[in-house]
Amino acid sequence: GHGSQPPRQSWSYAGVFGRFDQAQLQRGFQVYKEVCSACHSMRLVSFRNLAEEGGPGYSAAQVKALAATYQVKDGPNDSGEMFERPGRPADRFPAPFPNDQAAAAANGGKAPPDFSVLAKARTFERGFPWFVFDALPFTGYSEQGVDYIHALLVGYEDPPKGTEVPDGTHYNQYFPGHLIAMPKPISDGQVTYPKNDKGESVVPETVDQYAKDVAAFMAWAAEPHMMARKALGLRVILFLIVLSGLLYYVKKKIWADVG
Ligand code: HEM
Repeated sequence: GHGSQPPRQSWSYAGVFGRFDQAQLQRGFQVYKEVCSACHSMRLVSFRNLAEEGGPGYSAAQVKALAATYQVKDGPNDSGEMFERPGRPADRFPAPFPNDQAAAAANGGKAPPDFSVLAKARTFERGFPWFVFDALPFTGYSEQGVDYIHALLVGYEDPPKGTEVPDGTHYNQYFPGHLIAMPKPISDGQVTYPKNDKGESVVPETVDQYAKDVAAFMAWAAEPHMMARKALGLRVILFLIVLSGLLYYVKKKIWADVG
């Protein structure tokens, strides 16, 4: 059967005036980097995207340092050989597996999907009318796919009595068909978030919070210029309202003496 309907979450970037929460995007990136990136690629995202306006808000220097911690494939060099070198900000995130076959082979026959546009893809697949809202420039993103990603991470549970869970699959309340090849990827306390002066994390280190943070990060990755789009959309709508008023007034004036 189908997965259960994911519960709605409140996302900081929802709605006309919504904004990504920079601290949340940074935490989400941390979860991606420390946990998900062992299996999931993010081919369309470059390191430098992390420093762009409307994103997690890392500095150029931080991104440069981060990129240098990765080894990326390059070449061919003068002798026609491929080689590895430390990453640069313009490089894309290296994938954990060389290709889909290798990814599938390492994961019980199912390749972990690339994260670049997964949040949008899952939104689209949730069907009418969500993708219609998604197409409107000023409402921004509908959040169905992101709700689903959160739900999926918190949705691992014991199967109902009588349900067979074949080897290499795991029971998840929200996965369509319930039997998912991805083992429960994250547990409470697994990722250590930055601490404040009192030595406390500002948000709980729980699966629920990790799931919200990484889902928000994936929403950003799927649409890094959402903030700019919303700002433009809002200006367009305001302009159209003003223009409509003006046209109405001019029309009345011009036709005032007729009939
Ligand atoms: C699938 C998220 C970590 C292996 C997926 C899907 C999402 C996701 C959203 C797509 C589900 C769908 O098709 O509807 C995450 C997140 C992770 C994470 C947010 C980190 C917190 C991992 C890890 C592994 C993994 C560490 C490998 C050990 C897979 C596999 C699939 C998958 C094999 C395909 C499942 C299937 O089609 O049955 N993941 N994942 N994931 N993931 Fe992950």
